[in-house]
Amino acid sequence: MSDAYNYLNTYTKNTSHHYAINTTAHQSDFKRTKNTMATYLITGASRGLGLSLATILTSKPDLKVGLVFITSRNTSTPKITELVEKTSGRVVPVQLDPSDPQSLKAAVEFVESQVQGSGLDVLVNNAGVQRFTNGKVGDMSSTDLTEVLYTNVTLAHLVTSAFLPLLRQGKRKIIANISSTVGSIALAPGFARYPAHSYKISKTATNMLTMQYALDYKDEGFSVFAISPGWLRTDLGGPNADLSVETGAKEVLRYLKEAGPDFNGRFLNILVPGWENAPGPNQYDGKDAPW
Ligand SMILES: NC(=O)c1ccc[n+]([C@@H]2O[C@H](COP(=O)([O-])OP(=O)(O)OC[C@H]3O[C@@H](n4cnc5c(N)ncnc54)[C@H](OP(=O)(O)O)[C@@H]3O)[C@@H](O)[C@H]2O)c1
Repeated sequence: MSDAYNYLNTYTKNTSHHYAINTTAHQSDFKRTKNTMATYLITGASRGLGLSLATILTSKPDLKVGLVFITSRNTSTPKITELVEKTSGRVVPVQLDPSDPQSLKAAVEFVESQVQGSGLDVLVNNAGVQRFTNGKVGDMSSTDLTEVLYTNVTLAHLVTSAFLPLLRQGKRKIIANISSTVGSIALAPGFARYPAHSYKISKTATNMLTMQYALDYKDEGFSVFAISPGWLRTDLGGPNADLSVETGAKEVLRYLKEAGPDFNGRFLNILVPGWENAPGPNQYDGKDAPW
């Protein structure tokens, strides 16, 4: 057993729906390893890409991966419970509704209490929602536009802003915003027939949010980038999507592990052999996507 696994232990649910980790038995292991292991926080991890990222991240012993905090509005789901149990507490669920300031504050305080002064290394803003327009962009409802922008952009900003102090204390200072090539203005003509207007607009805004953080926090050593995970078979992507969720998640994780200062302010696309020059709007060539 590695030190990483020795220190991972039992957790008990407390009244505020957070899970308190009993670190007493393994404090010394944690102190020995916490300087080398990176802590992650992934939003929207109840299902889909977020859940897959956490599952793969913790599926093998890896001394570079420490605690993986997964946030969800509801942490009492069978999938989350199963993952937490399977990983012996290495995956830590955090109840978070980022639209509720109290929930956000409590989530930050909870994570702070768990990392014991070593901060947070990697934040993945993954939570997202998609709506379809019945018709052309002129038929897009204001409700759809407002709600999708709020969830995909405003909430990602609120989460990032709230966790900045903990990220500052972290060693890696990585912020990855899960975007999509459907938000690329340059690629927009190729996606013209995809009727998710509000979603496309929101991902363009996600990219600009990413760039604003990249510019403003570069000097503090942050690396903030957007990444398109591919069209994946999830609830959001649907059953006809190009790739399994695991394929997209593994690629996102490859980038997260490699990420350094040279990733700051970039919009990355995954690499899937055989898809580099695929016909149609989606190519997965591992190059920076055009803005
Ligand atoms: N799937 C694709 O083909 C694809 C392609 C490109 C980019 N992406 C991006 O990848 C990310 C994950 O997508 P996915 O395919 O995994 O979607 P998904 O399976 O539908 O999961 C979406 C996740 O976001 C959470 N979420 C949605 N609205 C939220 C809100 N208002 N507050 C907090 N959490 C909220 C959901 O939580 P609940 O369970 O509580 O609803 C869920 O955990 C999104 O940002 C998406 O835009 C996906």
